[in-house]
Parts: sequence; C-alpha cells; structure tokens
Amino acid sequence: MLKSSVTDVELHKIQCETKITSSLKIDCNNLSEIQALDLANCLPFLACGEESAVHAFSHSLLKGVTSEEAEEMYGIAADELRHASYLESLRSELPKPSIHLPVDAMSRFFRRMLTKNSALHFAQVAALDLSVCRLISTLLHPHAGLRNHAQIRDILGEIARDEARHVSVARNMAIKLGMTPLALAKVNLDIDLQLSNLLSPIRPSLDRLSRRGNPCPV
Ligand SMILES: [Fe+2]
Ligand SMILES: [Fe+2]
Repeated sequence: MLKSSVTDVELHKIQCETKITSSLKIDCNNLSEIQALDLANCLPFLACGEESAVHAFSHSLLKGVTSEEAEEMYGIAADELRHASYLESLRSELPKPSIHLPVDAMSRFFRRMLTKNSALHFAQVAALDLSVCRLISTLLHPHAGLRNHAQIRDILGEIARDEARHVSVARNMAIKLGMTPLALAKVNLDIDLQLSNLLSPIRPSLDRLSRRGNPCPV
C-alpha cells in the first residue's frame, strides 16, 4: 500500500474549513406546510449515507490505493462532510419529520456495505451515490414541487453534481480492482432493491415533492 500524502491533520483541517464555510442560513419560509414536512421526511435518507461515506473515503477505502487516488478519496470525504453540513442547516429550518426511517434496517444496510473486498465496497458506494443522484434529480425537475425554491435547489443540485462525480470515481476504482461491468450491474440492482424497501415509508413524501405541476414562469 502506498501511503497517502494527505495526513489526518490535513483531513481535520478540511473538516473544520468545511464546517465553517458551509454553515448556511437557508430560507424555507416560502415552502408550504406540506412541502416543508415532506422535505423533512426525506432529509434523513439523504443525510444517512454521508457519515458512512466520510469514514469509507477517509479510512476503509484507502487500502491499496496510490497517493494520487488517496487525495481524490479525501476530496470526496470533504464533499460528504459539506453535504452533511448543508443537510443539517436545511434540517434546522424544517419541522420535525412525521415519518421515521427504519433505523435498524438502515444500520444493517450500512453495516453490510462494510466489506473487506474493496472492489465490492467501491461498487456499492457507486450504486448508493447513483441512487441518491436519481432521487435528487426527480426533486429537481423544473416542474416539480421545489421549482420556486432556488436556494434549496442550488444546494440539492450541488450535492447531486458531487455524487455524480463520486459515482464515476468509485466505479473506476471498482473496475481497476477487478470488478466486471456485469458484476457492477448486479451490485446496482441489489442496492436499488434494498434502498427501495428502505425508502418505502417516505415514498408518499417523495412522490408529492416530485409531482410535476405548472411550469415555472420565465
Ligand atoms: Fe454525499
Ligand atoms: Fe458520495
């Protein structure tokens, strides 16, 4: 294993800077009551992967990578910290969720991802991030419920763009470590199925927020 040129001290610095620059004040006042509650119900799902991704990209996935790749992983860990901070800022402006994700099932899901097989771990991270991208893009459709909420859309858009980059990095790493395209596709299907079960309690909230109404006035 090649040692990363980014030290724990530098990672800590990234964490501190990320927290400072991303403590945003997010204006949620013009959300309707039901939109605010639906968003509050969806946030825990968007936030739950961030902590495990920070750990994976700053620790467990660094085994056997080159120092250049390790720098990229630390960059992803910093992205995930920024996402967690954005989502926390958003959560603080929203009501308490009325629906709760199945905590035990969620932690089982993330524990199952902690494999010693790095190729599989990268493939699972790519599949999870791809699902997050898909979910956010339905919320960001120009005719969907959040169409008039520019600041929330900007935040979700930034997260989705980062996640799309993470998908590409994690997939390339999985392939480099021996995963075939067929095996990758199987991992995607498996993660999609597990996530769709986990998401079922908040599906009505997601559907309402994704529902397309009148186009945004230009
Ligand atoms: Fe993220
Ligand atoms: Fe990610």
